[in-house]
Amino acid sequence: MTSKVNNSDFWEQRYKEETAHWDIGEVAPAFVKYFSRTGEVCKPRLQNVAVLGCGRGHDAFYIASCEPRAGKEGFASRSSQDVVQVHAFDFSESAINYCNKVKEENNVKNIHFHQANIFELVKDKKWKGYFDLVIEHTCFCAIDPNKRSEYIELVKYLLKPNGKLVGLFFMRDKELGGPPYGSTPKIIKDHFKKDFKEIVELHPESCLHSNLNGEEWFGVFETTS
Ligand SMILES: C[S@@+](CC[C@H](N)C(=O)[O-])C[C@H]1O[C@@H](n2cnc3c(N)ncnc32)[C@H](O)[C@@H]1O
Repeated sequence: MTSKVNNSDFWEQRYKEETAHWDIGEVAPAFVKYFSRTGEVCKPRLQNVAVLGCGRGHDAFYIASCEPRAGKEGFASRSSQDVVQVHAFDFSESAINYCNKVKEENNVKNIHFHQANIFELVKDKKWKGYFDLVIEHTCFCAIDPNKRSEYIELVKYLLKPNGKLVGLFFMRDKELGGPPYGSTPKIIKDHFKKDFKEIVELHPESCLHSNLNGEEWFGVFETTS
């Protein structure tokens, strides 16, 4: 039986009815912490970043706003073509319309929203090995659990060699009938271990939804080829 979460209408309704309770209205603090520390999206080479299941785009806008900064390499600033390019995907029309409105109001040039089913991205050769980073924020827990291996294949398809998935995952070892669907650190690691190495160990992160504290886990996986 096909799961309701495979149907974009399910998600569209949540945005239309204002029942998108996962939406914290701002970038997740875990990403601010990680990217401020690593400066990963501010390096002196062009970077493309994908945000999967971007919702209202808070994480995507944050990453697009990261300023190039002078580093040990001695560069003063990057030229405009070096600015990170963010491609954010979601199959809810309302979510993408919202994102495009914010983009226009703020005249953000280096962000691109796509209304698309993420599982269809592998059909477009343009995206093969296109991204340095893929951002995951409670998308893995939102998809049909039967499609988890397909999700890993998708991330592999999108990333360049040595690209990274930077993820804030929802974890709950009891399955309450999703979405969100439960998982555990072991389940996540088992999915990634064949083709990725874990470079930031999965660990709980504080979350702006106080009722979810302890259930959001942050980790980074790098492709091994
Ligand atoms: C739990 S929400 C998280 C949204 C966002 N990352 C956030 O934290 O606010 C999951 C999002 O993934 C999107 N989504 C679920 N399955 C998808 C698919 N197959 N293709 C594209 N988007 C999908 C939904 O529309 C929804 O916006």
